[in-house]
Order: sequence, then C-alpha cells, then structure tokens
Amino acid sequence: MTLPTFPGPIDRPRRLRTSTAMRSLVREHTLRPADLVLPMFVREGATENRPVSSMPGVEQHTLDSLARAATEAVERGVGGVMLFGVPEHKDAVGSGATDPEGILNRALARLRSELGDSTVIMADLCLDEFTDHGHCGVLDDAGRVDNDATLGRYREMALAQAEAGAHLLGPSGMMDGQIAAVRDALDSAGHQDTAVYAYTAKYASAFYGPFREAVDSSLQGDRRTYQQDPANGREALRELELDVAEGADLVMVKPGLPYLDVLREISGASPVPVGAYQVSGEYAMIEAAAANGWIDRDRTVLESLLAFRRAGASTVLTYYASEVAGWYRDGL
Ligand code: PBG
Repeated sequence: MTLPTFPGPIDRPRRLRTSTAMRSLVREHTLRPADLVLPMFVREGATENRPVSSMPGVEQHTLDSLARAATEAVERGVGGVMLFGVPEHKDAVGSGATDPEGILNRALARLRSELGDSTVIMADLCLDEFTDHGHCGVLDDAGRVDNDATLGRYREMALAQAEAGAHLLGPSGMMDGQIAAVRDALDSAGHQDTAVYAYTAKYASAFYGPFREAVDSSLQGDRRTYQQDPANGREALRELELDVAEGADLVMVKPGLPYLDVLREISGASPVPVGAYQVSGEYAMIEAAAANGWIDRDRTVLESLLAFRRAGASTVLTYYASEVAGWYRDGL
C-alpha cells in the first residue's frame, strides 16, 4: 500500500535549539568558577614539585608552590581549595595529622595567612595519608579499623586544623559519628565558626586509584569495611540523615560521574548545600582518552562539570578547578 504523507510532528522541541541565542535563553544550568573547589597536595620536606604520573597536570606541591598555585586559583575566582598533606613520616596513629608542625597544618596556616578570608580554605580530615598502614583510622589489636578510637583522633585533628586556620573541614574517613564528634570538639574549643563539609556518601571505589599515588598511600587491601558498597543507593540517604542531624554544614557525594544517581537523590533530600567530588580516576580517564585523541578534552571537562550541576551539586571538587576558572576569565 502507499503510505499517506505524515503531516509532521505537532511538538517541535528543536525550536528551542535553533540558535546560540535561543539555547542560551532557555539554558537551565550554569557553571561558574565560584562553584569549583581545587583539591591540592602538599608534600613535607619537598624542595621542588613532583608530578603525579597518573594525573597529568597535577602535582605534589612544596609549601611555596602551593601558596603560588592557590593564590592563582583564587585570583581566577575558584570557590575554595581543599588541602591534602603528604607527610615525610607515618606511624600507626597518624601523628603528623595532629602535629601543628605537620605538613597539612603548616600548609593551612600558610594559606590562611596569605589568603585570609578571600577564599574558603578546606582541609581533608582523615588519617590515611598519615598512617603507616594507610587506613583512614587507627587499628585495634585484630588489625580492624577501630571506629570509636578513630573519632578521638579526628577530634584532635579537627582542632589542629581549625587552629591552623581552616575554614571548612572535610571528614572523609566514613567513621560512624564522625560529624558529631568533630562538631563537638570544635564547639568545645570555641571554633563555632569552623564549618564541616561531610563526605556523606563516599563509596569504596576503584576510581580513587590515582589519588593513592598522589598521596604516596601505604594502603594494602581496601576500605570496604567503612566506605559504602557501590551496589547500594539507599544507605546514602541514611548517611545524609545522620550527617545533617550531627551538624554537617554541607554534604558531599563521591566519586562523581559514576554516582550521579546518588547525587540526584541526595540533592533532592538534603536541607544543606550538596557538593560532588570528581575524583582522581575520573580525571585520569579524561586525560588518558584526550591524550589518545579519542575525545575533545576541554569540551569533555566542561560537560562533566556541568553534569554535576544538573544533578544538583552546588559545589564541585575537581582537579580542573583552576584551569577551568582560567578559561572563564579569558572568556569561554
Ligand atoms: C581519604 C580520601 C581519598 C580521596 C579523598 N580523600 C582516598 C580514599 O578514600 O581512598 C580520593 C580522592 C580522589 O580519588 O581524587 N582521605
């Protein structure tokens, strides 16, 4: 049979895509440098920067180069910096984390004295970089991560970081009760204004691989007894309820792109601002594919960051933060 001529669709969504101006008019989500937070690594005793081979463009900084790179990022308009320390010596309890002269605390003090309140200075609050076994907490006699003993160490670490000048602490160890423990320590010591950025839904992820090189991790094994099972979505909501009840000022989902569904759910349910962390493995994948000429690097970077905003993130932690902020300054 001869088909009658199809009269054409009634609805034509393409009308809103006809020109740059029309697309711009109806755009729902945007990305600004102020939405981005730059994670940075600082190495104790270093006299020159050391590149992280699995994360091209990322380095372990000296105190001086950290200050320079952070200042540059802030001048470009990033919303904040998140510091990770790489200590020279490690031990069972992560002593370097609570020592005011430890590398992370020195770096926080340095940035606070140079940058003041012109940006948000954030500190990773976790023992893994500082322990010789590489776990995020202290171990019991059987070699298991001891939740409650670890909370005591986190409380001390929180004080050291607040006293060094951090504005925002990011407890990333996934111990139960860590937000309440840290909040109470801060309040007891008069640091009511120091905020807490809870790593709320943090999964036991293979995407952290390159980060382990970035911090010279000593970890053997994995973190599955404390970080979340990638198969689970629901427990993210339980973690959210707990973190908010315990006093979290912001909450985070991590990793990023593989967990956009979790980010979407958390951002729908959270009464406090929500962030996402585009982790080391996500960065490495983009870099590797781009280096092979398989994807357009810059477009992929922007699209991935915009995806976090679309899924509900207010802030995005990304190793691209400073570079992307520079693109905006130069007129994207
Ligand atoms: C723990 C911590 C990790 C990351 C941030 N904080 C590593 C881990 O949990 O194993 C990973 C960040 C990244 O992969 O970019 N202090």
